[in-house]
Amino acid sequence: MYALNDEQSLFAAQVRRMAAEKVAPRSAEIDKQGEFPWDLKKIFQDMGLLGLSVPEEYGGFSRGHIYLCLAVEEIARACVSSSLIVQVQSLGWEPILIGGSERLKKKYGPLVASGEKLVAFGLTEPSAGSDAAAMKSKAVRKGDRYILNGSKCFISNGPLADVITVFAMTDAAKGVRGISAFVVEKEFKGYSVSKWESKMGIKGSPTGELVFEDVEVPAESLVGEEGRGFVYAMQTLDTSRPVIASQAVGVAQGALDRAVKYAKERVQFGKPIAQFQGISWMLAEMATQVEAARALTYQAADMVDRKDPRTSYMSACCKMFASDVAMRVTTDALQIAGGYGYMTDFPFERMMRDAKITQIYEGTNQIMKLVISREMLK
Ligand code: CAA
Repeated sequence: MYALNDEQSLFAAQVRRMAAEKVAPRSAEIDKQGEFPWDLKKIFQDMGLLGLSVPEEYGGFSRGHIYLCLAVEEIARACVSSSLIVQVQSLGWEPILIGGSERLKKKYGPLVASGEKLVAFGLTEPSAGSDAAAMKSKAVRKGDRYILNGSKCFISNGPLADVITVFAMTDAAKGVRGISAFVVEKEFKGYSVSKWESKMGIKGSPTGELVFEDVEVPAESLVGEEGRGFVYAMQTLDTSRPVIASQAVGVAQGALDRAVKYAKERVQFGKPIAQFQGISWMLAEMATQVEAARALTYQAADMVDRKDPRTSYMSACCKMFASDVAMRVTTDALQIAGGYGYMTDFPFERMMRDAKITQIYEGTNQIMKLVISREMLK
C-alpha cells in the first residue's frame, strides 16, 4: 500500500490550510453565482498549483503525480468547482506532455504552469461521448497548415480557455488510427464558443460547446504524430482519472467532516445525535469508504509516476470506486443533517450535486467497468 512521505504530507497540509482559509468561505457563493473564481485561480497560481504536472524543464513544478492528486483532493474538500481549475489545467496540458514536440512543450509549458494561459481538453462531441473514437471533427492538411472543422461539447473550462488540445480525424478511413491531436489557440480565426451549459453542479466551472470553422492550425501545432491522437487521449485519461478520484475523495471527506460536526452538535431526544448507534455506525461506514477510496487513488497516482503497465486498469478502478463513494457519502451526510441538509443554507446538497459529476466525466463508471474488465481479460 502506498503511504505518503513527510514532504507529501506537509504539502497536503499546506493546501488544506489554504483551502480552509480562502476556498471554503467562497464555496457557497461560487455555486450560487455560477461564476469562475478568478481570485482563487490567482491564489492557486501563486502557490504553483497550476504547474503540478509540468516538469521543471518546461517551466513547471512537477514533483510527482501524487502532488497534483493531493492538491485537488484538498481543494475539493472545500469546493469541487475550484478544484477543477487545477485539474483541467493538467488535463489540457497532458497530451502535449505525452506526445508533443520539444518545441510545443517549451512553448506551452511555462504558459500553463504560470497560469498565464488556461487550457482545456477537447475530446467529446455531440455524437462521441463514451464512444470517443466516433468523432466527426476533421482536420485536412494544406501545405504548412491544417484546416480544422467541427465542434466539441461539454468541455470543462472550455469557454474561458486560451489554449485547447483538440482531437480530430485526419484520415477517417483509418478509424481510430486516423485521429490526431492539435493545439488550438483562442485567437485562431474561425474558433468560437457557441454555448455555456447550465449544470446541476460544479457551477463555478464553466462548461461549453466549442466550434471550429475553417480554423487554420499551423502544422507545428500537431501534437506528436498524425494518427496517434486517440492513444494520446487515452494515455491522458489514464493519468487524469486518479485526479478525478482525488476530487471524489476530497468532496466525500469534506461532507464527512461536516456530518461529524453536525452529529456532535445536533441534539434530539435529549442527546447529540452522534450518540445514537444508527448515526455513529453511518459515520463509521462513511469513513471506511473514504479511507479505502483514498488508498486506491494514491496507489493509482503512484503507478502513473512509475509508468506501471497496470496504470490504465488501476486508474479506472480508483475513479469508479472513489466516485461511487463520493455519491454515497455525500448522500448519507445530507441524510444525517435531515431537513437542514436539504436546505441550501447548508453545504450538503451542493456537495451531493458536485459529487455526481465524478461518476460521469472522464469516462462514465460504466465505461470504467469496460476498461477494467478488458484489461483483466486481455
Ligand atoms: N493507452 C494507450 N493506448 C490505448 C489505451 C490506453 N489506455 N486505450 C486504448 N488504446 C489504444 C488501443 O490499443 C487501440 O490501438 P490500436 O488501434 O493500435 O490497437 C486504440 O487505442 C483503440 O482502442 P479501443 O479499441 O479500446 O477503443 P474503443 O473505441 O473500443 O474505446 C474506450 C475505448 C475506453 C471506450 C474509450 O472510447 C473511452 O475511454 N471512452 C470514454 C471517453 C472519456 O473518458 N471521455 C472523457 C472526456 S474528458 C472529460 O470528461 C474531462 C472533464 O470534463 C474534466
